[in-house]
Amino acid sequence: MLVKKAEFVISAVKPAQYPEDALPEIALAGRSNVGKSSLINCLIQRKNLARTSSKPGKTQTINFYRINDQLYFADVPGYGFARVPKSVRQSWGKMMETYLTGRETLKGVIQVVDLRHPPTADDQNMYQYLKHFGIPVIVVATKADKISRGKWQKHLKAVREGLELHQGDPLLLFSSETAYGKEQLWKEIEKCTGN
Ligand code: GTP
Ligand code: MG
Repeated sequence: MLVKKAEFVISAVKPAQYPEDALPEIALAGRSNVGKSSLINCLIQRKNLARTSSKPGKTQTINFYRINDQLYFADVPGYGFARVPKSVRQSWGKMMETYLTGRETLKGVIQVVDLRHPPTADDQNMYQYLKHFGIPVIVVATKADKISRGKWQKHLKAVREGLELHQGDPLLLFSSETAYGKEQLWKEIEKCTGN
């Protein structure tokens, strides 16, 4: 995908605020600090259009980015960050549930996991949740630059087994640092959106 235009559109906390132009949409999902916002920036070749941080809990709303007037990326808060107060965690959970189960233009979710570690219970639950609602999932194991190439396959296997990945669901290696895997991920996104 040649990205000619990438614009931030809105930060939403409820459906009335979601964009209404009905373009196909791809959302992110993953633990806090795993690299969701960085992955968006990498895909669209913009340094910090989606705000990133070395501290977990940076993204707190559903942030919509329109790409080439063709599709949306929805960046979302991460899960599994214990230091967020319980009440805030609950309201994020509710916001995500409303979004994932109600967004008609949602064509797929990029579930981001950390290649270095086996999936957490939260990762497993999110994958099951997406499967339950029949939402197409692309699993991306990111931060590949932090692991030597010789160990990539071993770690990929741990991700596949930990999530009990369904046959046919793509699992891709990625690094926002080096842009490794970018073209392959764009291909999978285009399969979901029909672009
Ligand atoms: P929340 O918004 O808090 O849920 O986090 P996030 O998932 O959006 O993570 P974010 O993109 O803000 O990245 C978190 C940290 O990981 C930042 O310090 C990034 O620079 C770093 N990071 C993200 N992707 C990669 C990667 O592929 N390689 C390396 N080495 N660092 C990465
Ligand atoms: Mg973020």
